[in-house]
Amino acid sequence: MQTQPEGGFTAPNPHRPAETAADFTITQAWDAYTPEEHDRWRRLFERQAEILKDRAAPEFLAGLDALAIAADGIPDFRRLNDELSRRTGWQIVAVPGLVPEAIFFDHLAHKRFPSTCFIRREDQFDYIQEPDVFHDVFGHVPLLSNPVFADYMQAYGEGGLKALRLGTLDQLARLYWYTVEFGLIQTPQGLRIYGAGIVSSEGESRFSLESAEPNRLGFDVRRLLRTRYRIDDFQETYFVIDSYRQLFDATLPDFTPHYEALKTLPELEPGTVLDSDRVFTRGTGRVKRH
Ligand code: PHE
Ligand code: CO
Repeated sequence: MQTQPEGGFTAPNPHRPAETAADFTITQAWDAYTPEEHDRWRRLFERQAEILKDRAAPEFLAGLDALAIAADGIPDFRRLNDELSRRTGWQIVAVPGLVPEAIFFDHLAHKRFPSTCFIRREDQFDYIQEPDVFHDVFGHVPLLSNPVFADYMQAYGEGGLKALRLGTLDQLARLYWYTVEFGLIQTPQGLRIYGAGIVSSEGESRFSLESAEPNRLGFDVRRLLRTRYRIDDFQETYFVIDSYRQLFDATLPDFTPHYEALKTLPELEPGTVLDSDRVFTRGTGRVKRH
C-alpha cells in the first residue's frame, strides 16, 4: 500500500524516491528527516522499549544497546553500518519498500539487510500494513549483531534463491514468517520474543506472550514449512525455539528432502495442533480480529 497524502497526489518523499538502482537500493537521505519524523520514532521507541524490557529476548535487547538504537531519533544507516560491520560483517541497505524476492534473497545472501527508510504517518502510529523504518530497524537490525542469528539470515538468503529455482518459495516463506517475523524463544525466565513483526507491534508484543488464544508450539522445520500463516491479524500459532543455534543447525541442511516430502503431505491451517507437536500452550482458538 502506497502512502497517499490528502488530495490524491503523491508528494515527493526523499525516503521513497521513484528511481532505484538495479538492486533496488536508494540512499537514506538521513539529513532530510524532519523533527516531527524523529519525534515519531522517539515515541514509537519509548513505547516499545517499556513493553519489551521484560518481554523481548535478551539478545534483542543487547543488540539495541550494542548498536545504540535508541530514542534519540531515526538512526543514520552510515553509523549503524560501522557498528554492524565490525560485529558480524552485515550492512543495511536502504530500499523504498518491499523488493522483488530474488533481489531480497540476494541481498541477504551477501549479508545486506534491505531496510525501508521512510517512517509511518502519524495516523499509522499503532498499525501499518507494510514495513517502515521503525519495523525494519527497530525490529530486524538488533539481532543482526548476534553472530548466530546473522548467519541464519545469510543462509536464509541462499535458501531463498534455491527455493526460487525449485518453485518452493511458498513453503520457505513460512519459515521466515514464523521465525524472523513472529518467533518466540525459550529462556530460563520464560518465553521471550525475538520476531521483528512482534517487537515492532505494541498489541502483538502483549498478545504473543500473554493471550490465552494462540498456540505456542515447539519449533520443527518440516512441520513449520507445512503451516500456512495469516497476514491480516495476530498469529494463531507461535513457534518456540530453544536457541538461535538450534534454529541455525536445523535449517542449515539441504531442504530438498523436506520439499520432496511436502509434495505428499497436506498443508496445515494456522491454528492446527498435531499429536506430534511439543505444546507449550494450547490456545483457546478464539482468535478475533485485532
Ligand atoms: N538449508 C536450506 C536449504 O537448503 C537453506 C536455509 C538455511 C533456509 C537457513 C532457511 C534458513 O534450502
Ligand atoms: Co519484517
